Amino acid sequence: MTKILVAGSTGYIGRYVVEELKGRGYWVRALVRNPDKIKTQGAHLEPSLENLADEFFIGDATKLDSIAEVCNGVDVVFSSLGMTRPDFVHSSFDVDYKANLNLLRLAQKAKVKKFVYISVFNAQKMMEIENIQAHEKFVDELRASGLEYAVVRPTGYFSDMAQFIAMARNGVMLSLGDGDKKSNPIHGADLAKVCVDAIEGSALEIEVGGPETFTYREVAEMAADVVNKKPFTVSLPLWLADGVAAVTGFINRDIHDIALFATTVSRNDTVAPAYGTHRLRDFFEQMAAIME
Ligand SMILES: NC(=O)c1ccc[n+]([C@@H]2O[C@H](COP(=O)([O-])OP(=O)(O)OC[C@H]3O[C@@H](n4cnc5c(N)ncnc54)[C@H](OP(=O)(O)O)[C@@H]3O)[C@@H](O)[C@H]2O)c1
Repeated sequence: MTKILVAGSTGYIGRYVVEELKGRGYWVRALVRNPDKIKTQGAHLEPSLENLADEFFIGDATKLDSIAEVCNGVDVVFSSLGMTRPDFVHSSFDVDYKANLNLLRLAQKAKVKKFVYISVFNAQKMMEIENIQAHEKFVDELRASGLEYAVVRPTGYFSDMAQFIAMARNGVMLSLGDGDKKSNPIHGADLAKVCVDAIEGSALEIEVGGPETFTYREVAEMAADVVNKKPFTVSLPLWLADGVAAVTGFINRDIHDIALFATTVSRNDTVAPAYGTHRLRDFFEQMAAIME
């Protein structure tokens, strides 16, 4: 039976990847940093790992000693391990680059056959952002590793869109620029199918988004409609948002990255080849119900 290590297994996409792998009959080892997260469902209704993974390996991928044997005996490593929120301890280079590089070196040592990694759609257009540089520096290492590999490049996740429901419920909707740029975000369960297809297939780079495309204004309107409120909209012109982003650079580099990312996607359409069946409105209704 093919054995797969999932790094990032307690995160939004990692949980769905574990579920999809088990559905297709694989043996799964889940790398977990905080064991308390094994039993709980994710914050955006992603599945609990408790009855899914075959084995749990407790370790922190930034600390090589704690994961020295994590790749032993597996055929494939899948990593969605990344830093999506500032933790005020690590930089994105520590996690997105170095922690994944630790896994890659261990995978080479353990003679793992293939390594599948999640980076970001349109990365080459956002290389001024440190977090994107860290992702792509790891992708360069992966390409040079001699292992079979695939890089999955998704647009935004439904989990990120949940902030629109939170803003609508709180009565204040923040809008950057005109809100007219488009995106096709993807649900974790749909993206997990693409990731497992990447494990099984031979494509090296896979760009992917969800089945529906919206402007940010349409997403905000849908969120308001779902919670049945008329939030007050605070529109920040992009020149002002750029100023705010610049100021965050003096406070914290990870918050700065998030601000830069927000202003960048507010200037450009982020529409990747469409995949999947999950609809954003259904997800919004589920999130609104659990936030009540
Ligand atoms: N969100 C988006 O819209 C989007 C779009 C495109 C690409 N991406 C990329 O996709 C990847 C996954 O995103 P996501 O939303 O699933 O992220 P997430 O929910 O924040 O999950 C990240 C995972 O990485 C784990 N992790 C972080 N540092 C670790 C360490 N030192 N040792 C072991 N595990 C560690 C986390 O563990 P804990 O649970 O213990 O924190 C968690 O399991 C990220 O690299 C992100 O940049 C995201």
